Amino acid sequence: MLKTGGISLDVRLNNQRVMVALDVQSREEALVLAKALQGSGCWLKVGLELYSYTGPMMIQELKALGFPIFLDLKLHDIPTTVERAIRGFVQCGADMINVHCSGGYDMMARAGNAVREEGSKLKSIPKVIGVTVLTSMSETQFRQEMGVQRNLGEHVVELAVLAEQAGLDGVVASAKEATDIRKSTKADFLIVTPGIRPAWSEAQDQARVLTPSEALDAGSSYLVIGRPITRSEDPRQALERLWT
Ligand code: C5P
Repeated sequence: MLKTGGISLDVRLNNQRVMVALDVQSREEALVLAKALQGSGCWLKVGLELYSYTGPMMIQELKALGFPIFLDLKLHDIPTTVERAIRGFVQCGADMINVHCSGGYDMMARAGNAVREEGSKLKSIPKVIGVTVLTSMSETQFRQEMGVQRNLGEHVVELAVLAEQAGLDGVVASAKEATDIRKSTKADFLIVTPGIRPAWSEAQDQARVLTPSEALDAGSSYLVIGRPITRSEDPRQALERLWT
């Protein structure tokens, strides 16, 4: 079997679709995990937790170890503020950045344009995607607390279509919604899905989970996986076990 970096090409290709959520609170913990995963081909996801403790330098340090970085800060503000802030995140070197779709068409369009403009100056244009509805939100909360009348699945698909029209590269959604999003958007539209649990791991606080293979079959482009890998005694082995 063809091997690259000590792992088979098939495993490496699958790993390139995994974004490991580095939900830790220090540079040291993040680097221990990154070094354990180095050479696997996976992405690293820097979210609010790690970013709030370490700041933008962390992104550059992780990139220097060879990882593509998804900066998951879920921007949600008026279009001008998002546009101006997102230019700074492009300069940090992130390869993927996100905003909330519920910020509306104008906010998404301006975010997308700013990312492309800023990225082309640096000769590296990050992907910009929209968060549809958080996977932590239940159908009941969605209707009762948010007061939205249509069902959650339909709302997610509508937001994904709006994100595509606004020029975003894709969305974050539950893998359970990926099949319907795929039917309504162009073939290369990215669907990034958290809430993934291998059969051998615990669901923890994720309510509606799919296995990695189920999520890929449903149409996910990238799988966001945190604790099954980062809380494992051997994160590298846990990453490889996703596909067994
Ligand atoms: O540890 P676990 O695999 O549950 O990590 C999930 C990661 O995905 C966390 O970083 C969380 O912020 C993120 N996420 C999520 N649901 C969303 C968007 C992001 O769980 N809708």
